[in-house]
Amino acid sequence: MTSPDTLRYTRIPLTHGTGAMPAVGFGTLIPDPLVTTQATKTALEVGFRHLDCAERYRNEDAVGDAMQAVFKAGTVRREDLFVTTKLWNSNHRPERVKPAFDASLRRLQLDYVDCYLIHTPFAFQPGDEQDPRDASGQVIYDREVTLIDTWQALERLVDDGHCQAIGLSDVSLEKLREVVAAAHIKPAVVQVESHPYLPEWDLLDFCKEHGIVLLAFAALGHGLDPRMLDDPVITGIAQGVGKTPAQVALAWAVQRGTAFLTTSTKPARIQENFNISTLPEDAMREIREGIATNVRFNTVVHTGVPGFIPRTNDQERERPHG
Ligand SMILES: NC(=O)c1ccc[n+]([C@@H]2O[C@H](COP(=O)([O-])OP(=O)(O)OC[C@H]3O[C@@H](n4cnc5c(N)ncnc54)[C@H](OP(=O)(O)O)[C@@H]3O)[C@@H](O)[C@H]2O)c1
Repeated sequence: MTSPDTLRYTRIPLTHGTGAMPAVGFGTLIPDPLVTTQATKTALEVGFRHLDCAERYRNEDAVGDAMQAVFKAGTVRREDLFVTTKLWNSNHRPERVKPAFDASLRRLQLDYVDCYLIHTPFAFQPGDEQDPRDASGQVIYDREVTLIDTWQALERLVDDGHCQAIGLSDVSLEKLREVVAAAHIKPAVVQVESHPYLPEWDLLDFCKEHGIVLLAFAALGHGLDPRMLDDPVITGIAQGVGKTPAQVALAWAVQRGTAFLTTSTKPARIQENFNISTLPEDAMREIREGIATNVRFNTVVHTGVPGFIPRTNDQERERPHG
């Protein structure tokens, strides 16, 4: 008798924080709040135990409602969940960090989060406007605060017992090195775009060497062109192992040692994305060696301004954030 495949239950212990992150994560970047609550609730019901949130998504309260629903139903306990949220660019000034963190907790209806990330390394003009622009439409950056100043404010949250782990998002390897060198609490997690078309092997090597979990967003390539899920290497493996292309890409993410975030508003896909199984080693090798396409879909890493690059789908232009 073969033992059941446990890949979907993989948990990655945090070297620089408390607890362990479930490798299989559900992202809550969903524009409509009612759809957010419904999709998040479905994700929790099918087995996701890791939720990714952000003040920038403007729907933390809707995610909170989904969590409250499963807590009240008794199907999931708070301690079984790993919840991450993120500090937005307009709150980088150290004195704004704790109030922003508290506001996220209030909206999420939680008394702690498992991980708090700096959403991007770019500081915007401080204030309640998330997207401050000058008269010519240019983003107003805040030159008075450094990433290290903001990092130290996050360290204080951990020191004072308000959250279990802290990390960064949308950083380059260079920026990550700077923070690691200056930190008294090193980043537990780094969240960046990553998928078979953007494997970020150098960043992953650095993260492994320094005990940092690499959390891959857009693990399915955000459904944009060129469609990674239609890549012949991915579809060929999927056919061979009797799984879907999405399940192949997600299993690859976990087996190479990352956690991942995926998002869907469709119950069948949410279930599909949870039901991953271990790929044979030759499939892992084939994805690494047989795919030459290299595409970054999200430009946020260059500017701090959210957004997937629209390629063929004009509707992407309308998406509010990302
Ligand atoms: N740190 C950052 O700056 C940042 C930026 C972007 C995202 N994120 C986080 O990462 C999460 C995931 O990002 P993402 O939305 O780009 O993830 P993704 O899973 O790569 O892309 C989601 C897209 O794929 C489709 N999809 C989902 N499951 C599928 C399946 N099994 N087969 C085919 N298509 C499928 C979805 O459409 P349907 O809804 O129609 O199924 C949706 O259009 C976000 O929710 C957010 O939490 C962080």
